[in-house]
Order: sequence, then C-alpha cells, then structure tokens
Amino acid sequence: MPEDTLMSETQTAAERIERCVHHALAESYGLTGRLERLDGYTDRNFCLTLDDASRYLVKLSQASSVAAEVALMTALEARPPGELRLPHHRRSLNGQASVTLTLDDEVWHLRLLSYLDGTLWAKGLPPSNAQLYATGEGLGHLDRALAELDIAALGWLGQSSHDWDPSHYRSLLARPEIDDLERELCDQLAACVDFIRVRERELPRQLIHNDANDYNLFLDSPTSERPSALIDFGDACVAFAVNELAVAAVYLTDRSLDRLEALKQLTLGYHTVRPLTPVELECLPRLMLLRIALSRLNYLKARKVGAEDPYIAISQEQLLRQWQLFTTLSPGVIGEELMAACLPDSGLSLLPARRSLLAQRGIIDIGGQSVADLLTPQQTFATPVDGKPAYIATGETFIAHGPIELRNTIRVTRVDQRGDRLSIGLQDRELGRLSVIVEGAEGDSPLAPAKLSMEGFRLPLEAGQAITLTCLWGDDDSGGLRQRSNLPADTWEPVSDAYLDPRLALGHGQVYGGRQSVATLLHARRQLLSPTLSHAYRHPLKIVRGDMAHLIAEDGRRYLDLVNNVCHVGHANPRVVEAGCRQMAELNTNTRYLHDTIVSYSERLLATLPDHLEVVFLVNSGSEANDLAMRLARNFTGRHDLAVLDHAYHGHLSSLIDISPYKHDGPGGQGTPPHVLKLPFPDTYRGQYRTEDAAERYLADAKDVLAGAREQPAAFYAESFAGVGGQWIWPKTYIEGLTRHLQAQGTLYVADEVQVGFGRAGSSFWAFQQYAVRPDIVTLGKPIGNGHPIAAVVTTRAVAEAFKTGMEYFNTFSGNPVSCSIALAVLDEIESRGLQHRALALGDMLKSRLAALSEGFSRVGQVRGQGLFIGVEIVDGPALAPDSATAKRICHFLRLNGVLLSTDGPDDNVLKIKPPLVIEEADIQHFLTLLEASFDLYCD
Ligand SMILES: Cc1ncc(COP(=O)(O)O)c(C=O)c1O
Repeated sequence: MPEDTLMSETQTAAERIERCVHHALAESYGLTGRLERLDGYTDRNFCLTLDDASRYLVKLSQASSVAAEVALMTALEARPPGELRLPHHRRSLNGQASVTLTLDDEVWHLRLLSYLDGTLWAKGLPPSNAQLYATGEGLGHLDRALAELDIAALGWLGQSSHDWDPSHYRSLLARPEIDDLERELCDQLAACVDFIRVRERELPRQLIHNDANDYNLFLDSPTSERPSALIDFGDACVAFAVNELAVAAVYLTDRSLDRLEALKQLTLGYHTVRPLTPVELECLPRLMLLRIALSRLNYLKARKVGAEDPYIAISQEQLLRQWQLFTTLSPGVIGEELMAACLPDSGLSLLPARRSLLAQRGIIDIGGQSVADLLTPQQTFATPVDGKPAYIATGETFIAHGPIELRNTIRVTRVDQRGDRLSIGLQDRELGRLSVIVEGAEGDSPLAPAKLSMEGFRLPLEAGQAITLTCLWGDDDSGGLRQRSNLPADTWEPVSDAYLDPRLALGHGQVYGGRQSVATLLHARRQLLSPTLSHAYRHPLKIVRGDMAHLIAEDGRRYLDLVNNVCHVGHANPRVVEAGCRQMAELNTNTRYLHDTIVSYSERLLATLPDHLEVVFLVNSGSEANDLAMRLARNFTGRHDLAVLDHAYHGHLSSLIDISPYKHDGPGGQGTPPHVLKLPFPDTYRGQYRTEDAAERYLADAKDVLAGAREQPAAFYAESFAGVGGQWIWPKTYIEGLTRHLQAQGTLYVADEVQVGFGRAGSSFWAFQQYAVRPDIVTLGKPIGNGHPIAAVVTTRAVAEAFKTGMEYFNTFSGNPVSCSIALAVLDEIESRGLQHRALALGDMLKSRLAALSEGFSRVGQVRGQGLFIGVEIVDGPALAPDSATAKRICHFLRLNGVLLSTDGPDDNVLKIKPPLVIEEADIQHFLTLLEASFDLYCD
C-alpha cells in the first residue's frame, strides 16, 4: 500500500503532498532533495534542489492530457525548434517520463522537468522591440516544429478540450459567466466571433503551445534581446496556428511604450519564420480579444467557485489594461497595420504614411477656400482641457468665421445623425476606412441636418458656430471606447495612434510624429537592397540626426557614439557642413580643370607627413586607396606577390579581399590565394606566444614564412593599429623588425592609416609614427572627409614617377573641389580644436580608468590602445578564453542606456572604443559609470 494513504490525519494537506512527492522521487527516481512550492494554475509545482545544487521542476497534475503532453514534449526534445530552450523530462529509474501516484484516493501524474532559469519576461524591463521581434521568430520556429509532428501518433486526436482551448470560441457567448463579463467586451466578443466564423476555413489549424505568456517565457538577463526559454505545455491544444501569436501578443506587448509597434514587431518576427496569410493577419487582433475574453470568463468561473489562489487573478489587471488600450484602435485598423507591415505588396500603407497623405489631401472640403480663414481651431489637439491635466479632449473645437458648408471628398459608407452628433464613415483606397464625428458645441446653435447626395454629405454652418471634430482611423464602432469624448491623460500616449488631428481631415496642419517606422524600413531594405547588407544590433536603430559625439534616433533618444572613427571631428560638424555646402553651391568638377582646393589640400596634407612622402593621389575610398597602392608597388618593384598580417582588413575590392584574411578566411571566403603571404598576427596576450620574448618569436616565425615564399612580395600591407584584429598596437620589435627586413629585400611597406590616422593616436598625427618605421606608401580614408567619400594615397617621388607608364590615372570624382573643401575643413577642425591633443589626454585618462576597473572584474582582461583607439578584452577564466557573449551583453546594456559601443577581434570579444575626437570628458565619465554598472552585472 502506498505510504501516502497511511498518513496521519494531523498532517496538513500541504505537508502530506510534499511527503508523498519526496517518497515518489526517492522510489521512482532515486532522488532526494529539498522541495519548494511554486505557483501553478491547476497543477501543483515544486522546485526540487538536489544535494549537488542541480534543480528540477516537479509537476503534479491530474489532467487527462498528460500523456499527450509528455509525448509532444518528448517529440520536441528530438528536434528542438530553433534557439528557444524547452523543458526536458528526466526519466524515472525505469525510463518513464511520468509516474503516477495516489493522493487522497486521487490519481496524480508526477513529472520531473529541467528547471529553466533566467529572468522571467514579466520581471524584465519593459520589452524592447528587439525582444518582441526575436520572440516572434522563436514562436514561429516552435510552430513550424509543432506543425510537423504527427498529432495522431502523439495522441492528440480526440483530446478533450480544456478551459484555455480557443477552438471553441463560438460557444464563449453561451458560457454561464457571460452575464458578469464587461458589457463592452461582450459586444466586441460577439463581433469577433462573427468575423472569425466566416473565415474559419481559411485559418490553418495545428498543435500549438497556446500559452507563451510573460510568466512562461524567460530571458537570459533583463536586457537580453532574445528570449531564452519557454515553459509549460499544459495548455497545448490543436487550434488555429495564429492563436499562438494572439496569446503571446496579449501578454508580451504589455508595458511597451508603443503597443501597436510592439505587436507589429512580434508579428513580423513570427511572420519571417512562419509566414502569415492575410486572413490570419486580419483575424489576429480579434483572436487577441477572444483570448482576453476567454481569460476573463475563466477568471469569473474560478471566482464563482471561490478559488482563492492569487495566481489565478495575476493577469486580470494586465488583461483589462491591454483590452482598453488595444480596443482604442479598431481591430480592422490593427489588422490593416499588421498587413501593411508584414505584406508590403498588399497595397496597404502604414498609419504614418496614411497620415502624411491625409495632411496633403484632407477629406473635408470647405468650398475650396483657405481653411484657416474659415474654420479655426479653438484649442490645440491633445492638450489638457481647461488646464486640467487629468483629461484630454479627443476632438478639437473649431469656429466658423462665416457661413460655410463642410463637404466630404471621399466615398461615404455610412451617415448617422442623432441629436447634435453627426457620425460619418468614409472609405478610400489609399487612406483606408475613416470616421469623422461632428458635434455641436454645448450651448451653441444646434447642428443643421446634413444633406446627403450621391457625392456624400454637406453640412452648413453659420458664422460664429462652434463644432467639435473627432477623426478616427477605422469604423466608429458602437460600444467602443473610442466614442468617449474624454480619455484619461495617462492613457493618451498609447492610444493616440487611434485618433487623427482633425486639422488633417481638413487638409491643413502638420503631421505630428510622422515617421517611417523601423519595421517598415527593414522591410523596404529587404525588398530593395542587397541581401548582404547587415545592420548594427538585432533590432536596428534608425538614426535621424548627428550632433558631434552624439547620434539622435527617430524616437528622440540621444546616443553617445563610441565607435565612429569616420565622423572624426563630430557628426554634422558645422564647419565641415558649411564648407561642403559653400563649395557645392559654387562649383564641383574634376581634376581636368585647375582648381585651388586640390593643391591647397595636398600641401596641407603633406605638411603633416614625413618629408620623404612627397606625392598625393586623391581617390574616393579606403579601398580605392589600397588598390592604387597595390598598382604602384607592383609597378615599382616589378613583382606580383603581396604580404599581409593575419586577421587584417584592407578593403572590399576583389584585389583587397585577397589581402584581407578577415574576409577571405571568414564566412563565404575562399582562403588565402597563392600570391598572398599571410604573416603571423603578434597577439602577445591570448596568442601562441605570451612570454616576454613573444614579439621576437612572432618575428622569427614571420621571417620563416618569408624565407619559404615563392617570390619576395611587392608590398607589405599593415594597418598601423589593428582594427578588426581587435584594437591592437603592434609590439615595436615586431613591426619595426618586419618592415626593416622586408624593405631590405626591396618590398614596399604600405602603412594603412584608413582607420587610425589624423591625430587619433594622440602622441602622433599618424599612427605609424608610434613606431620607428618609414613607409613607402601611406593610404588614408575614413576620417579624411568626416564621412564624405574622399581618400588618399601618399608616396615617394620615386614610386610616383615610376607610375608614369603612359597610361593616365583618371578618377572621375577624386580630388573634386567639394571633397577637397571638406577635407580642408576637417584639417582646420583638428588643428583649431586641438583634437590630437584631446585624443592624447582623454585617451590616457580613459585607458587608466579602464585598467583600474579591469582589476576588480575577473572577466575584464587586457586594456590596450593609444590615444582614442582603445580595446578591452572580455575573457573567461585563467586560460583567457574569449567571452564574446558577455562582451555583447555589455554592448547591449550600454545601448539600452544610450551609449553605442561594439565588439571586434577574431573572437569578437574585444570592446572597441574609437569615438569621434570631439568627445567631451563628461561623456567619457558617463560612459565609465555605465560600463562599471555593466561589469557589475556581467563580469564578476
Ligand atoms: C584598415 C582599413 N583599410 C581599408 C578599409 C576600406 O575602406 P573603405 O570602406 O572606405 O573602402 C577599411 C574599412 O573599414 C579599413 O578599416
């Protein structure tokens, strides 16, 4: 007889259950440990901690569907759906995923599941659009995997329905609790049921998880961009596939600043993995509403039977909030918005685009005369009424300045005039459906009856008459919250999308908040541009303005830019902008005409370089500069082969991919070609040699490679500081010894200063001047034009003269007056603002503060650099294993806190710091404070 049936009656129920679970764990699994009770809706859940600190979730349930659930989860164990982790069953001693036990004469199923930890979505920060998009992708993968399962074989055919099964939505209105449901919600539920009923056949059905809510989804950390795990298959069922997304959307979009955008991101992420049909998209907002109603009904039922578990009520406040906020926009408009975002070919445009169109066209005409003279607003839309901050008018009052007549310009679908309220439904191919509500002002003369004709409506107004205009996207559904003339101010922000500034309806007024959303742009990029284009951050930033060391995103957030070494003298630097504008307004032409700027610029540039470099070639990009350097070197030496350092990057042309191991050894690369000698990268921190004599040993290895070469190279290319190699300053012994050795054999040394020149090194204007070397060719780019495409090759007279082979070197844009004026302004800025000195002073301060910080955190490794070119290694353990994941978390934390930083290096674990040189000391202090906070979080 099982021990639990012998329990003494004095034990409490909870104690009895725990004893029984302990017993079953020992008996069936051979496990002992500590049990801690967890929340559960109908199941009893415990956390089991074993002696070795490993943890399991113990689930006790009575549901008849346990066997099917176990079969489903076991099938997913065999083919995990993407990156989202799911719980696994620990098998009992005799190999079962579930064991039964009897408790108070009732049969329970006990299971042991892997305990997935992390941050619960509900406990994280308000969700970012990136998290929502990635979660959509995760659910898409899950649903694709679920769709492939054989539901009959897994025992899912004929499974009896449970309370959370959405497939019986038609019967919701017949549930006994319906009388207690909010009346508006009840009306909306009925409308949704009708809408879905006629489309049911077009909605694909499959097995779904059905409960991706904010208490079942985990993130690795509060700021991570991807969800890490999903638990609880207890509500799985066969339903419309899109129900998966609807359930997730109800819970996961809560707390977002912009719920509509959040819904779009979640849907887009899902759609990229499991494409949604137009019908699924139009049903999605209605299925969300059905889920809200279902949850309310289940709650009302539980309350009726007196269930007291607070877990049951946990989501109700959130659900009501979501209901109120989502229903301010009609489901039709939300559906269209989702379609416009997911199906760019649908011909629908997103609200911001429609808003702009409306601003140009208007929909109400007043006799072709200037609106401003005839109908003027009395108070500003969206401002508090009578100075009372608590409520905001959703309409705006206008006064007629003479007898006028309002007429509509687009198709009328509905007119309803009752008392002093005229409501008109309108429909247009480009603008979609709209509603306009005209109300007479209180105490004013009553509204005249509207005249209806084939063309639409006409409403005469007397001089001095006041009306209130409310304009909405979509239908003015009866029973909707949207009819209320006042809304609490704190709900204004999330619902403002539903309303239109009525002045737009009159074809007059500015579009506020008009913007192309990130989602729209991403889609457009995918459609129109090369698929190989990448973007920084999984959820990219849309930057709309620059301001010296800062970038400003479309939502107005300011970001301190720590990685832009192109806008060297500051984003939108006024002197540079002015120089470019002035010259562009005057003349832009090519080098076949004489112009002062090319000469004065070359003179100024040469003055910054050692005397033996006497001739300038202006080109348009760093790649062009390095390609030209190759032609010069081959021509001068009569040799063909080339030498480079491992991990180097010298440009995107075919000739340069050959000498860029970063590319040709990376994804899609074809390896090092035979004409290129790859010399060792002297990593003295984590590389092959780490001892005092590491540089000498790397040098010896490099000489060995050269000794075995089929021909000595025409040129040796070296970035003066390594960029993509991980922010390195070369050991002097290595770079000096190597260039001397090669130059002695007749090889030309090309110093690639494309990233690091123009004062960034701090104690010298050019980075190669940090070593005792003498380049034969120097290539310049990026900062030279502060973002304007200009670059240069500077070389000796002998190399330049030898290039006179009879073939002209002509380059259409190179050296044009606009580029030269801009480049001159950059030099002026560097000089007049003392930017080289600033790079030295701020760089030294930053490096020493970083070095001090690194002492306190085990994962913060070597800090290195020169001037404002600094790298910080993020490592794991004494063997200095690269820890790219932590480095990325740090960058993400900083991004969320307004600082843009990124990672580099062959293992992508080096934080790279190379801000515009105009960065202020206060900005650096701010960055250090945030960086320390991120180290506290991730680097101990
Ligand atoms: C060191 C180095 N050389 C050359 C280039 C190529 O310059 P561009 O992209 O202007 O062609 C780059 C660009 O990242 C670079 O970092």
